[in-house]
Amino acid sequence: MEIVIVENKAEAATIAADIVEAYAREGKTLGLATGSTPVGTYQELIRRHREAGLSFADCQAFLLDEYVGLPREHEQTYYQTIRREFTAHIDIEDAKVHSPDGTAEHPGEAARAYDASIKRAGGVDVQILGIGSDGHIGFNEPTSSLVSRTRIKTLHPDTVRDNARFFDGDESKVPHHVMTQGIGTIREARHLLLLAFGENKAEAVAAMVEGPVSAMCPASVLQMHEHVTVIVDQAAAAGLEHTQYYAYALENKPGWQRF
Ligand code: GLP
Repeated sequence: MEIVIVENKAEAATIAADIVEAYAREGKTLGLATGSTPVGTYQELIRRHREAGLSFADCQAFLLDEYVGLPREHEQTYYQTIRREFTAHIDIEDAKVHSPDGTAEHPGEAARAYDASIKRAGGVDVQILGIGSDGHIGFNEPTSSLVSRTRIKTLHPDTVRDNARFFDGDESKVPHHVMTQGIGTIREARHLLLLAFGENKAEAVAAMVEGPVSAMCPASVLQMHEHVTVIVDQAAAAGLEHTQYYAYALENKPGWQRF
């Protein structure tokens, strides 16, 4: 894993946008995440689209997860959230922005169909990820199988509490069920780009990077992936003990690609 410890969110957004831009320029398939963490990256990509002509017209996009039971028009569905925060402001065709169907009558079938649609698109080239304070990725809570596929999950009460801020602070309004790409699905993306900010994420980041690979910290599966970039601010990095491994100077030799 490449661990990049940055000074602030703006620096993280620039580095993450540089990485995503390289894929967008080749019309690759983007894996998008919701949550507050990637918002700065999306804003930077929107700025590059508007001011520097960065085009996403040849890209497809797949979302990680969705609440179950919220009507598609609900402003807190991830279907709406990603449009509001990112894809409505760039030149990707709306039909190319895919997400799990949290309203499906047969969720098991819808989940399998979603996995199949990712495969048909040739897989995800770069997957943006946040991390839950309990180490979840997508909505794969601790004890999720590390080879799981897209399916329905029940949220841990802590995640319901964390996400209540998007529902007027009212935990009773947060759906308790979600449809999420499985950890096995996420692992198939060719490049994983995980961002984390703030002290609330410090414990999860330490477990992900320095802890054992364990279903108790789903994000620890990133240790088993061949191309991972983790971008964290100082607060989220505070639990890391072995910073001498991460703080190395970059030797910028021609052809040496850092990310
Ligand atoms: C939700 C999402 C995750 C996200 C996490 C962290 O649970 N399903 O994909 O990473 O929240 O959210 P935030 O970035 O707002 O801290």
